[in-house]
Amino acid sequence: MAKSKNRPACLSARDRASFAFPTIKDRVPIIVCKIIDLLYRHRSVYPDTDSIKQAIELMSKLRYEIATDKPFSNIEDGREDCSVWNEYKDKMGVRTDQGELLAPSWFQTSWLYAECYAYRRLWEAMGSTTNPKYRSLDFFEIQKQESFCGSWTSIKALIQTVEGIHKSNPKDSGSMAKNFLNLLKVSLWGNKCDLSISSGVATSFQGDPTLQVGALQPNLIVDHSRAVWDHLSANQGGIVDIILDNVGFELVSDLALADYLVSTGLAKKVRIRAKNQPWFVSDAMAHDIKWTINAMETGGDIAQNEEKTTEGKVKATDSTALRWRQFLESGLWEVSEDNFWTYPHFYGEMKEKDPTLYQSLSEAQLLIFKGDLNYRKLVGDLNWDPTTSFEESLLGFHPAPLVTLRTLKADVVTSLDAGQAEELTLKDPKWMINGSWAVIKFCSRIDLI
Ligand code: F6P
Ligand code: MG
Repeated sequence: MAKSKNRPACLSARDRASFAFPTIKDRVPIIVCKIIDLLYRHRSVYPDTDSIKQAIELMSKLRYEIATDKPFSNIEDGREDCSVWNEYKDKMGVRTDQGELLAPSWFQTSWLYAECYAYRRLWEAMGSTTNPKYRSLDFFEIQKQESFCGSWTSIKALIQTVEGIHKSNPKDSGSMAKNFLNLLKVSLWGNKCDLSISSGVATSFQGDPTLQVGALQPNLIVDHSRAVWDHLSANQGGIVDIILDNVGFELVSDLALADYLVSTGLAKKVRIRAKNQPWFVSDAMAHDIKWTINAMETGGDIAQNEEKTTEGKVKATDSTALRWRQFLESGLWEVSEDNFWTYPHFYGEMKEKDPTLYQSLSEAQLLIFKGDLNYRKLVGDLNWDPTTSFEESLLGFHPAPLVTLRTLKADVVTSLDAGQAEELTLKDPKWMINGSWAVIKFCSRIDLI
């Protein structure tokens, strides 16, 4: 990372008082154990047991390396991003007085790098099996599907709202702003229930989410939702990119928003940016989107074996799933798995490291960044003073107007008013990490940085 005079230090597990420390010490190892356990328990599903055993061994080794703060090793599974990770490792190494380059290690290097590296090492374990079929096995799939099933009641409630909007004309100018703001906030609060914050324990959204949005308003500590609406309604018909975060209820809420954008003409196209590998347990890959749309038709059966569709009646989720499939087929929605989202870099480095993606993002009228990890990467995961302006904390990343919809699960935030952080600490000492507080932060002033 290029150093600037005034740039604060990276968050790191070195700091025992920060959330980085328990994350690397406890939460990531628990996540690793959980996959080992799942792979072991389901080993009969995989005909080539030896390959699975091989992956399990490498994952156990990873766990040991974290616990003993071993130096990072090169990624050597032959996938196309190996060199990116290995160059990054060298860049983050520390030179001793004798000129020797020490590799970074779990508790010494930056939190963002260490946590991303843990997930890349899990992917390496899968990629190192001798059986090529298992190289692409999504070892978080079961957990992701359980998260969808656990939120089925809320998913149905949300879809009923979506269908209600469709029936009463989504383009009705009298209700457009209200519907947009509602769906934007549902998509924001959908971010409460990711699986990495809960160390892989299924968390789900309960009840009717559209009703909860109002109740959660006091916990929205920065709310630029109106500015986002003003921007989009004044610039209708462009491309909107959604940089996804988690599957389950959150993914459905993001797709509901994407549905609204293209159905109203607020966007001529929505590009949906997913991860290219299993990431932070619940992050969405392209195959999860397909699975989710299919599961919306059979969801009741998968989830709770509850009500079957009565003869002649189509479930609300069916019509939604059909429409979403058509959006994908017609290209109104375009899904891509860009490599950069699973690099260790923060977004300020994208222009240099992935100019093609940066250029592509710059075509958008609006970029919607979902979730905590995207936020951390936007602001470099640095120990910012919370009153620093968001524009400054973006570290030069400004391909297009952008908004971040994030519930706070890491001890980094910018753009707060003076005294706001102190007030929040009095109200809730864990406000930065418990996912109960959120920001909708919009930045259009890309030319002023
Ligand atoms: O701190 C909790 C954590 O594991 C962070 O490391 C990470 O930023 C976050 O959870 C993932 O949350 P989200 O799914 O919202 O990006
Ligand atoms: Mg996530």
